[in-house]
Amino acid sequence: CGIVGYVGDGPVGSIVHNGLENLDYRGYDSAGIALVDRDSADLAITKREGEVSGLDVPSVSSATCGIGHTRWSTHGPPTDTNAHPHTGMTGEVAVVHNGIIENYAALKDELIADGHEFTSDTDTEVVPHLLEQQLEAGHDLQSALESVVDELEGSYAIAAVEAGSDRIVATRHESPLVVGHGDGTAFLASDVTAFLEHTRDVTYLQDGDVVVLDDGEVTITQDGDPVDRPIETVDWDANAAEKGGYDHYMLKEIHEQPTALRQALSGRVNLDDGTADLDLEFPPGFLESLEEIQLIACGTSYYAAQYAAGLLESVADVRASAQLASEYTFNGGRDPWRTLTVAVTQSGETADTLSALRRANGAGVRTLAVTNTLGSTVTREANDSLFIRAGPEIGVAATKTFASQVTTLALLSIFVARERGTLSAADARSALADLRGLPGAVQQVLDEAETVREAAETYVDASAYFFVGRTYGYPVALEGALKLKEIAYDHAEGFAAGELKHGPLALVTDETPLLAVLTEGTRPAETLNNVAEAQTRGSPAIGIVDGTVETNALDVTFEVPSLGTATPLVANVYLQLFAYYIADLQGRPIDKPRNLAKSVTVE
Ligand code: G6P
Repeated sequence: CGIVGYVGDGPVGSIVHNGLENLDYRGYDSAGIALVDRDSADLAITKREGEVSGLDVPSVSSATCGIGHTRWSTHGPPTDTNAHPHTGMTGEVAVVHNGIIENYAALKDELIADGHEFTSDTDTEVVPHLLEQQLEAGHDLQSALESVVDELEGSYAIAAVEAGSDRIVATRHESPLVVGHGDGTAFLASDVTAFLEHTRDVTYLQDGDVVVLDDGEVTITQDGDPVDRPIETVDWDANAAEKGGYDHYMLKEIHEQPTALRQALSGRVNLDDGTADLDLEFPPGFLESLEEIQLIACGTSYYAAQYAAGLLESVADVRASAQLASEYTFNGGRDPWRTLTVAVTQSGETADTLSALRRANGAGVRTLAVTNTLGSTVTREANDSLFIRAGPEIGVAATKTFASQVTTLALLSIFVARERGTLSAADARSALADLRGLPGAVQQVLDEAETVREAAETYVDASAYFFVGRTYGYPVALEGALKLKEIAYDHAEGFAAGELKHGPLALVTDETPLLAVLTEGTRPAETLNNVAEAQTRGSPAIGIVDGTVETNALDVTFEVPSLGTATPLVANVYLQLFAYYIADLQGRPIDKPRNLAKSVTVE
């Protein structure tokens, strides 16, 4: 999502609208603006489903400040009502929000018990209601926001305006927010791109900061005490700024994975009970009597499905298979009442996946969509939906959505296993704790990006690249090879490590580096034997390791922390970086590889 705010002279509505358009490159599903009208006691608000270009600026005689929002839905589909800004009962406060408020359901229940009425399905709407309670208790907007954030759990950036006041008040926790300093004016945004044409002098807010933008004056407090934050000058051009200073969206999205994973896990990990809280309801007894789970998907999503099928089989004690959507048939011998078909699709619009889903629906099977896109076709056609919350992905080659898919499906496997009684609370807690460790572990890999670039320099002239792994390392090997072929246009193949000797070994030379996943969750000792077979034929060997096996004989090792069966997902980040740098060194158009599309809507 994207937040924009402006306080100052000039056409406030157009400045906010323009700021939103500057953020629109990320591809949002709804947008809205709230303006404080100098001559009216009411706020002027416009909001609607769709792109910013279709959003009207609210009509006011004279505005003093305004906030705007572009939304990538996480709670509630993209509709006019769910679009931000949100208001409470009196309409005197308007709020825009990025991130997820984990405890919104409990807060909403309390507010409803107090007589508050809600109009949207969003988690955000609790915030204006809570702010109104504080204003009624005599607080001003700043101290109202300070009290309200004490009640919120989750990650958020929040900006609020109040009728009759020239100020924007905002705060952040684990979600970006940056202030722009103009000449007697002030800007607020989740990304500097929003206001780069007006000012390059910016202050990055820290978690817990509360900022007040008042007539060009910017005051920042932390726990009620004023703090000094430096003013920095941004020297990126708009194009670089859209990519957060990275050369490509793909690299930006690789680096966004810790945040994406936090969002995927947010509010879903219950370590006390050892459960995954997924807000999914199946008919009574359905999961308990389930005989089979079929995961249908294409491309990268198929490899995420393959990873998940292994997890489901191992913890939920149910037959589970990943099937290519374009090859899917609902075969005889299966009981549709005891089958769950899960369509895994980032976009929710892939024609092959939709067509397979329709075949499953036609056979009377219960279906579940696992997707990044609220309101997408797959969510309308499946019985239930589960969202991976990765945020928009622009690079054609999927990166953060793969990580978020596997993580969300890992939560699903724990959810199903607990319902079926096949996983103890203690084992579930341990698996959940491993998932909780993912954002930090992925960050450790990202901090090693430079060493991956150096390895890419060594091997960029290879004639082909082979990727091997076992168990959960196998889909990761396949995904690693797919990334490299997609963006570098080099020959890359992934194999089950044990299969190397049954054919592919004929291709191995000293010009074909072998990349192997050798961590927990991949039977590394056996894989290492296969790596040695290739090394004997001259192949350079690159291993992703976690100390589980002795790997001195490898040419290059990349280290990851051990996180049980989630470890190969962390290893995958090295493969993403390797593919990226191999492609970049060859000057490939990484974000838009030839012949490929982000979403393929033909069969
Ligand atoms: C296209 C993209 C791939 C993606 C696949 C499935 O082929 O180029 O990156 O993995 O579609 O997309 P989906 O949106 O269904 O996950």
